[in-house]
Amino acid sequence: MSNSQHDNWGSRVGLILAMAGNAVGFGNFLRFPIQAVQNGGGAFIIPYFVCFLLMGIPLLFVEWSMGRFGGKHGHHSTPFIMETMDKRAFWKYIGVFGIFTNIAVAAYYCYLESWTLSYMYHSVAGSFTGKSSEQVAAFFNDYIGLKTMEPLFFWVLCLFLNVWILSRGIEDGVEKAAKIGMPLLIMFGAFIAVKGVSIRAGENGAIFDGTLGLNFLWTPDFSTIWTPKVWLAAAGQIFFTLSVGMGSIQCYSSYLKSKDDVALNAMSAGWMNEFVEVVLGSAVIIPISVGYLGIDKVVELTQTGGFGLGFKTMPYLFQQWGTTIAAVVGLMWFGLLFFAGITSSLAMGSPWISFMRDEFGWKTGQSAWLFGIIVLLLGFPTVVFFNEGVFDEYDYWAGTVGLVIFALAEIILFAWIFGMEEGWKEINEGAEIKIPIVYKYIIKYVTPIFIAAVFIGSLPDIYNKIMAETTSYVKISRLLLVVVYAAICAMVYTAYKKRIKEGRFIKKDLL
Ligand code: PHE
Repeated sequence: MSNSQHDNWGSRVGLILAMAGNAVGFGNFLRFPIQAVQNGGGAFIIPYFVCFLLMGIPLLFVEWSMGRFGGKHGHHSTPFIMETMDKRAFWKYIGVFGIFTNIAVAAYYCYLESWTLSYMYHSVAGSFTGKSSEQVAAFFNDYIGLKTMEPLFFWVLCLFLNVWILSRGIEDGVEKAAKIGMPLLIMFGAFIAVKGVSIRAGENGAIFDGTLGLNFLWTPDFSTIWTPKVWLAAAGQIFFTLSVGMGSIQCYSSYLKSKDDVALNAMSAGWMNEFVEVVLGSAVIIPISVGYLGIDKVVELTQTGGFGLGFKTMPYLFQQWGTTIAAVVGLMWFGLLFFAGITSSLAMGSPWISFMRDEFGWKTGQSAWLFGIIVLLLGFPTVVFFNEGVFDEYDYWAGTVGLVIFALAEIILFAWIFGMEEGWKEINEGAEIKIPIVYKYIIKYVTPIFIAAVFIGSLPDIYNKIMAETTSYVKISRLLLVVVYAAICAMVYTAYKKRIKEGRFIKKDLL
């Protein structure tokens, strides 16, 4: 459709910041530290880096170049990008994952994002001042228990902000948001990280040095390195934090020009994410909570739900530094989480918007509003039935399992069907760095086997989940996800028929 031709990235810095913003999210500041603590600290880091090198980087190359390839042919979402890469008809329905997962993840992610807005307000308003740790924790429990209407207000406000930015398009919306949000996020993160790491035992009520937590994380522990559970957790974290297996990277990179570099850009955004994750992300929650509570207590806290540390414990611990500093640091902490969150949720909205524009000729604004409404409807159960496990259910099926399935499919398509010779050419087209040739073989052999192993390794857990007794809330939420997937398939089918009628059909063998 013609209007998609006008949308492009305004600058290279903007593109990289937006891609990094896509990747940098709650995964970096909340999920990573918790995964690391739960999986034994130093025992987690080695599998984590191996997964980054053998799965994360290859998938970044593949997704960036798939997106740019699709963009050349006027496709900006995965159903028709994948359709273009092979003559078999089913790929477009697998490509549906690249829209579905984004919508389903956005449905719970935006709710989490809205907490950060509320907590920014409460940090400044002094709502945590003088409260005991139990009271601060109770504040959170009341919040998600919907004791007041406030969570609904912030949630709708947050969705509105997303829709507003998305409706301004790539350059004026997404790119601008990233250019403002990312530098602030890094500044806030660096400030709190320095504060966290410099905690001294005996000062301001701290029991241990801030470095104790860092050492726990960064002292390699080879004794448990062969535990499959740790590897699965590390792989899952790499997927989630890099936003690979989602379809959002392909969408962003489809707005590149056909001769633009993908190799260096992909590495810049990917490594920026790793910097924010392993340097900043590991230097906030862990050193601060370990400094005040000790390792055992922190390990125990992470066993009972992941958000505890970020929302229940942090606001209380900040109080130990005095009322004013607590307000400033609280604002920075929840502010950085907000920027991390919104630059990611904008990426989740983009595939849907691009799909509606490409296939049905919708305007960006209209598609953005419809995205907001869909997320509102699909997200409603996660808000109202949070304590019944609906939020976790979405996270498991869409945010964990969905990513692995889609990544496996796309790497097979790219390396084996589209073909690695052509694929390697795509990756290197316009490349401003020389990618070591070994990556050609890694992408062809190692990454698919690796992802397949992760998938097979997760099967027992998936099986147990399906077989376990569940509440009707959980059953209905699963049904909802299936309905959304099927609905997008139906739209893709309609779009496909429409394309044939209009003679806009491009297959690889017709190129
Ligand atoms: N990578 C994001 C994070 O770390 C999550 C995300 C997933 C963002 C999918 C966009 C698309 O939180």
